[in-house]
Amino acid sequence: MDNRPIGIFDSGIGGTSIWREIKELLPNEDCIYLADSKNAPYGEQSKERILELSIKNVEHLLHKECKIVVVACNTATTNAIAYLRNHYSVPFIGIEPAIKPAALRSKSKIVGVLATKGTLSSSLFHSTSKNHAEGITILEQQGTGLVELIEAGKLQSAELYNLLEQYLSPMLKKGIDHLVLGCTHYPYLIPILRKILPDHVTIIDSGQAVARQTKNILDELDLRAHSHKKGTHQFYTNVDQKVLSTILTPLNVEASVSFLDF
Ligand code: DGL
Repeated sequence: MDNRPIGIFDSGIGGTSIWREIKELLPNEDCIYLADSKNAPYGEQSKERILELSIKNVEHLLHKECKIVVVACNTATTNAIAYLRNHYSVPFIGIEPAIKPAALRSKSKIVGVLATKGTLSSSLFHSTSKNHAEGITILEQQGTGLVELIEAGKLQSAELYNLLEQYLSPMLKKGIDHLVLGCTHYPYLIPILRKILPDHVTIIDSGQAVARQTKNILDELDLRAHSHKKGTHQFYTNVDQKVLSTILTPLNVEASVSFLDF
């Protein structure tokens, strides 16, 4: 048993889509979440810079005595997790675009992936696509500009809707029946995506799978918190707290949101 917190980081608010699944599955666990919004988007930066930012975030979480680190960011996972696992002794959970379940379920054998430039250009993404999508056509689309609009709280804007329509229509014309969300910010787009995508196109994101994997590893390493306690949730952002608070309010969870210059 181990009551130390689970550490979670992302380039901004997107990883809260992973945190909310972790909180559901592991209600006794304390969580510390770092939103590195000041440095978003990671997806447009070099591999070296993404690694540097990931190390900075991990150091902060370890300073706060986290027992495990969830890299709630596809871009940081695909570019930095191998390094992090080699250099730190805590376990790391990562997230990658869920190509495998989409490939297994696709009837049209054409699957769309919407992700950041940093994820789509990583070698980990390429090896996953190659290994899990034999006989499947993967249509990749960079979500340029989407993270910036989500971070700016412009979820209801015409600009966001138009950008998504522009990104998705070529994939739809080519016959995708699954759309993989390869960025943890994108689950917040699902209500808009459902307006654009026909009903037969299934949206896949990896949030629940990451939460299950976190639980499995905590169980395996005997790191679960005491079952009688209720988990607490601390969020840190290095920009204005407003957008993070707006995302958390409808979830009705007791959480503290603070500014931290990290
Ligand atoms: N939320 C992140 C991801 O899953 C990063 C987006 C970005 O900062 O570009 O890739």
